[in-house]
Parts: sequence; C-alpha cells; structure tokens
Amino acid sequence: MSIRILLLGSGGREHAIASKLAESKKCSHLYIAPGNAGTAALGTNIDLNVSDFDAIRQCVINLGIKMVVVGPEVPLVEGIVDYFAADEQLANIAVIGPSKEGAMLEGSKDYAKAFMTEHGIPTARYGTFDRFTINKGIDFLHNLSAPYVLKADGLAAGKGVLILDTLDEAEASLHEMLEKQLFGKASQQVVVEEYLDGIELSVFVLTDGRHYKILPTAKDYKRIGEGDTGPNTGGMGSISPVPFADKNFMQKVEQRIVLPTIRGLRKQKTDYRGFIFLGLMAVKGPDGLDPYVIEYNVRMGDPETQSVFPRIKTDMVDLLEHTWNKTLETIPLDIDSRTAASVVLAAEGYPGSYAKGMPIQGLAECKECMVFHAGTANGNDNKTIVTNGGRVLCVTALSDTLPTALLNCYQAADKITWDGRYMRRDIGQDLLRLSVE
Ligand code: AMP
Ligand code: GLY
Repeated sequence: MSIRILLLGSGGREHAIASKLAESKKCSHLYIAPGNAGTAALGTNIDLNVSDFDAIRQCVINLGIKMVVVGPEVPLVEGIVDYFAADEQLANIAVIGPSKEGAMLEGSKDYAKAFMTEHGIPTARYGTFDRFTINKGIDFLHNLSAPYVLKADGLAAGKGVLILDTLDEAEASLHEMLEKQLFGKASQQVVVEEYLDGIELSVFVLTDGRHYKILPTAKDYKRIGEGDTGPNTGGMGSISPVPFADKNFMQKVEQRIVLPTIRGLRKQKTDYRGFIFLGLMAVKGPDGLDPYVIEYNVRMGDPETQSVFPRIKTDMVDLLEHTWNKTLETIPLDIDSRTAASVVLAAEGYPGSYAKGMPIQGLAECKECMVFHAGTANGNDNKTIVTNGGRVLCVTALSDTLPTALLNCYQAADKITWDGRYMRRDIGQDLLRLSVE
C-alpha cells in the first residue's frame, strides 16, 4: 500500500531523507514541514513549526497522513511521539523517533551518562553537579588531568560543550555555567568528564526497540576552518564509510555499545522506534581501537545523513514501516559499497552572522552529484534559488574510492557559486592520510 508521509525539519539532513522517502514506491505523496527549496521539488512544503504539535495534528488528519518522520531532536525531546500515542485519532499513525523518555538520551547528558553506567557501556568517567554541589564539582576537576570537558546537561543547540586547557579556566567555566547560567536552563546541571584522546566517528542505528540495523558509519567535520580550526559548526562535510571502522572495530561497537543500548532500552520498557546516532571516540587500546560513547543523539546527523542515506539501497519506507511494526529483523539491509563524500557550502560569516538572499548560480550544472539544500529559499521571481541560512547546500558524490569521491564532489561543488560562498577544502584528507600510515 502506498501512503502519504510527513517529514518534519528543514535542513540538508531532511532533504537527504526526503529524497529516499520520495523515491519509494510506498510513498504516494511527501509533505515536508517546513522544508526548503530542495524539498519543494520532491513534495509539498507546509509552513508549520515542528514544535507546534496541535498544528501538526490538524495537518496529519486533514491530509490523511499515515507516517511522520521526525528529522530534528527538538520535537522528540518535547514529546511528539507521546503526544501522538495519547490521541485516539493519531495513535495508529507511525511516528519515526523515540518517545520522550527515549529522547532523554540526547535531551539530558546526565541521563545519558547514568544510562551508560547502568548498562556497562564504555564512556568517559564523569560527575554531574549543580549550583549546590559546585564545590564537589571543583574537587572532581582536581582529580582529572587536562584538558577538561564541561557539558551543559540540557539541549544547547550544539554549543553546550566546553573543552578547557587549564584547571583555572575549567573552574571559572564551571562557575559561569552553574551560577551565571551561561547556557540558560540547559546548564542548571553540568556534566564534568574525563577527556578522551582519539578519533571521532558517528555510527547510526535504526531500531524498533527490540531489533536493530547498523547503518553505514560516517565521519563529520565540525570546525569551520581547514585542519579542524576555528569555531564549531553544525558540520562542514562528511565521509561514509569510515575506513578505520573495520570489521574488528565494528564488532566491538556492536557488542559493547549497540547491544547493551538496545537491551537497556528494552529492560526499562522505553518505546524507541527510530534512529540512534552514536557519537563515538575511537581510542587506541592494547588490541586495536576501542570505541567509547561521547554522546547519544536520537536522530540522524547533519551532514552525516547526506553521505549515509545515499548508500542505503533498501526501500526507506519499507524499513521505517518495519521499524514502527517492530519487525525490523524480517527485512534485509542492502548497502551500496561505494564511498560517499559530502561537502557543505556555507554563507560567509557562518557560524557567526551572515547575509541571506544571495542568488545561487550553477545548481543545474551539477548533474553527476547530489545537491542537498539546507538554507535555501525560492527567490521573489520564483525561478532563482537564494541563500536563506548559514549552511546553504551540501554536495555529495558516490564513487568506488575515497579519492575519486572527493574529486567528483569538489568538482561539482566548484560549479555552484554565490557572493560569499565558503567551503572547507580538506574534507576527508585526514582519512586519506590515515590510510597511508
Ligand atoms: P558533544 O556535544 O557531547 O558531542 O560534544 C561536542 C564535541 O566535544 C564532541 O564532538 C567532541 O569533539 C568533544 N568532546 C565531547 N566530550 C569529549 C570527551 N570526553 N573527550 C574528548 N572530546 C570530547
Ligand atoms: N553533525 C553532527 C550532528 O548532527 O549533531
């Protein structure tokens, strides 16, 4: 049966998800709320706020939607899955994403750390403190060695983690976070943790709460500047798969992290039918690299999705229906063995302030690659596409090897221009160097 689907969100991640949903025979029509100029070409954009559950409810009922796919974390942390489950008219609609309790894995760092401790999942040693226990927090810092990692407990739009080189700076930041509410309510509690030295990567899992599929791995490039310098961004590029995440490493990830995570969710009867994004640090151990969890996210990554989703060959709607029906073990997962390279094209000034409304040239010339829209809008003439955000586009190329994927990706990205376009030129270079070593 073919169904109408609503996708929530508006970034490059959502354009990549939308592409997979729209190409499925099981999708009769795709709606995207609020979407962007790219998703508008795949379905119907609806001007809705992803946190306005009553408006989403009306839209689902009026349009006869049977599945809602949630892109960003905020509506999940706010409880959209529970909202649907509690409503007679919505209870049978498939909502892809965890319940409010499951979403706490991303919504509260303290909750996530306690979950990992309880279920024996490897992660950095930590303590959680509030303004009444700040002195204990300072003592805890004294027992760690530099650098020091401080994390606001709640959601802070990706900005709530500080890494400090000296004890003095760490103490001062702990005071600022707890007493001056540096990150508002999000830093009413702060997780202080041991620094893990290694290489980061992202592993994605789709689960129905009992069974799971491990999706392709990816590496993200978070800093704005080449050589991983400058401020953090949402992500400036991604590569999938990660060459060093070989069979041996992935077996450790599955045994030490994925299995205990799913078992833990099951044990505490948490309804979790959606994506789990494991932010991992691969740390050198006596028997090769060992995985540690840096963070859980309860959604796909951006821009990781732009290199992970194009490699998934199994029908996406089929996969998500099996997720909702808790029958994920009955469907095979088919992955494209090629490498995907994605580079983000951003507006000059991002992640600080930047201009909007710049006309984009060259989009039609990128025929061999995929171009995912993020911060774009249709211009007033309804022909031009203009910039409308910090991260504007993401170009993805698939090829047999990493060097050719990168070559094709940058060749295509170079054809797209606007006044002030910026991209990092070194996406994937670290992985090329590692494979030579
Ligand atoms: P998070 O929001 O928890 O992913 O943290 C943001 C970034 O801080 C991560 O992507 C890592 O680069 C870094 N980070 C977080 N926790 C640690 C840690 N314990 N050791 C080293 N780096 C960390
Ligand atoms: N690219 C990192 C994230 O989506 O959180």
